[in-house]
Amino acid sequence: MIQIAPSMLAADFLHLEKDVELVNEHADLFHLDIMDGTFVPNISYGFPVVEAIARKATKPLDAHLMIVHPEKYVDRFAKVGVNMLSFHLNAVDNAGQVLAQIRAAGMKPGLAINPDIPVEKLYPYLDQCDYVVLMSVFAGFGGQKFIEATYQRLAAVKAEVKRQDVSCLIQVDGGVSAANSTKLIRHGADILVAGSAVFKAEDPAEVIRSMRG
Ligand code: DX5
Ligand code: ZN
Repeated sequence: MIQIAPSMLAADFLHLEKDVELVNEHADLFHLDIMDGTFVPNISYGFPVVEAIARKATKPLDAHLMIVHPEKYVDRFAKVGVNMLSFHLNAVDNAGQVLAQIRAAGMKPGLAINPDIPVEKLYPYLDQCDYVVLMSVFAGFGGQKFIEATYQRLAAVKAEVKRQDVSCLIQVDGGVSAANSTKLIRHGADILVAGSAVFKAEDPAEVIRSMRG
C-alpha cells in the first residue's frame, strides 16, 4: 500500500493546525524537512515547529534531516516524538553508526541521497534501513521540477531490495504530484512525499486521493 507523506514545508504556517488536520484525516505521514543552511543552501524550521505539529499529529512524523552532523540531534528528535528519521549519506562519516543510533533511540532509520549520488552507495546499508529516500530534486527547496532519471534509479533500488530480501521501503521526495505518482508506484515507490502538489492545490484532499493511483 502506497503511503502519502505531505511535506509541511509547503504548509500554511499561519494556519498550521488546519494543515495538520488535513494530514491526520487524509494522508499517512508528516514529512518534516529540516535544513541548516550548510548542508543545503536554505534554512527551514526547527524544534518549536516540530513540537507544535507533534502535539496535534495523529499520524507518524517522518523527519528528513538536510543538515551536517545529524548524529548530534538524534536524541532531540526522538524526544519531540519523531517516529522516522532520515539523514543524507554524504552528511556523515559512518552511516551505519548513525542508522544504528537512530534505531537505538526508538525511531525508524532512513538514508537519503541526492540525484547525483549513485544508488549503489545505498546497497551496503539496505539491511539496516527501514527506508531509503531517493531525492527526485536536489535537496534544499520545495517546488522544484521532478527529475525524470528517478524512475530508473527507483527500479534499480527496488530490484536490489528484492535481491537482498530486506524490508526496506523506498521513499521518493521532490516534485512529486498526481501527474507522476502512478508511474512512481509502478516503478516501486512505497512512500511519496509531496509539498507543493498538496498544499498549493485548491483541494488538497482530492490530490492526496488521486496520488494513491
Ligand atoms: C526538498 C525537500 C522536499 C520538498 C518537497 O529539499 O526534501 O521534501 O519539501 O517539496 P515539493 O513536493 O514541493 O517538491
Ligand atoms: Zn524532504
